[in-house]
Amino acid sequence: MRPALLDLVGRMTDDDLPAYVYDLPGLREHADAIRAALPDRVELLYAAKANSDPRILKTLAGHVDGFEVASGGELSHVRGLVPDAPIAFGGPGKTQQELTCALAAAVERLHVESEHELRLVTALLGDRSVDVLLRVNLPVDLGQVALAMGGHPSPFGMDPAQLDRCLELIAADPRIRLRGLHLHLASGLDARAQLALVDTILAWAGDWAQERRVALAEVNVGGGMGVDYARPHKLFDWSAFGAGLRRILARHPHLALRIEPGRSVSAYCGWYVTQVLDIKCSRGQSFAVLRGGTHHLRTPAAKQHDQPFEVIPDDVWLRPWARPEARAEPVTLVGQLCTPKDVLARNVPVERLRVGDRVAFAMAGAYAWNISHHAFLMHPRPTFHHVDEADAPTTGAYARQPS
Ligand SMILES: Cc1ncc(COP(=O)(O)O)c(C=O)c1O
Repeated sequence: MRPALLDLVGRMTDDDLPAYVYDLPGLREHADAIRAALPDRVELLYAAKANSDPRILKTLAGHVDGFEVASGGELSHVRGLVPDAPIAFGGPGKTQQELTCALAAAVERLHVESEHELRLVTALLGDRSVDVLLRVNLPVDLGQVALAMGGHPSPFGMDPAQLDRCLELIAADPRIRLRGLHLHLASGLDARAQLALVDTILAWAGDWAQERRVALAEVNVGGGMGVDYARPHKLFDWSAFGAGLRRILARHPHLALRIEPGRSVSAYCGWYVTQVLDIKCSRGQSFAVLRGGTHHLRTPAAKQHDQPFEVIPDDVWLRPWARPEARAEPVTLVGQLCTPKDVLARNVPVERLRVGDRVAFAMAGAYAWNISHHAFLMHPRPTFHHVDEADAPTTGAYARQPS
């Protein structure tokens, strides 16, 4: 944890915990490093679904080329916060109301998921026009991946054979400009696997466009750049990815490429900080019970991993009895929920962990708070804090809301 964050955590009272702490300078630096590694012909969109915290979005606005949103809620949220940022609107099952909003908001790109959705767009367009990408589910073997959204039968996008009907509809409607194709097939790929996938996608897209006589201007290959929760310091290799993209793009001289990562952009800037409430030994195994739990940070339960953490010792102990502790042994860190699934990290060796010590879970800046089941058991919500060099650390950017 960087000193400015530790300093902020040191000034928090126990009642401020659990807390989400976001490192905005760290986020900015990371986004700049990603941008710098990519060829100019690649546009970087941030997938807002990974974390739509307002200050995260505002911080990223000057450092990415735009945002990918996947619901009417995300669309109005992002538009309201960063009105000038280009927006790509994707996702399955868009309602008529969402499409109407997207057309009224003149989103830069609409990712069309099916023939029916395209027909709905034509019915709603009126005298407007729209730039679309058709989302394709390419039958490729993705191997072992964290999350496969395509490559096999799936509700995301269209089978290649279904594109032809869309091409006919587009040819008959001058209000719809086909800019290219969108493919988000998997999440959790390393740079090598991503490059192999991009290569396959672009080769297929080039052949498809030639056969169908489509002027293919761009391909959006989605997100899915992997992060490694077991090795928090091993980042997705953006330099190798950028260099590989340069080589691949040399074979597609007229194509613009877009990517829309979420997790690999914002995961590292977030920390979930909490405190040990109790330590106990059950049948030879040590458990630390923490304030909060997976109803605030569902990521380890959803992905079945150990969330990496740092212990922040607190030497103050005012109780008249011996302080419960675990020493040089594996400990399972659990939350306050009445379910055995409320596990943040399992059997992780610790040097020393005592009741009252604080624990900061790393990599909590993506698919963390916003995918958690906050209402379960009605515990208090965490407080939210942002550290920025531009201003003094702010606390309670969202005040704690009643649960
Ligand atoms: C269409 C689309 N684009 C981008 C993303 C972002 O993926 P990631 O956060 O793994 O980079 C997702 C995630 O589900 C997605 O569905």
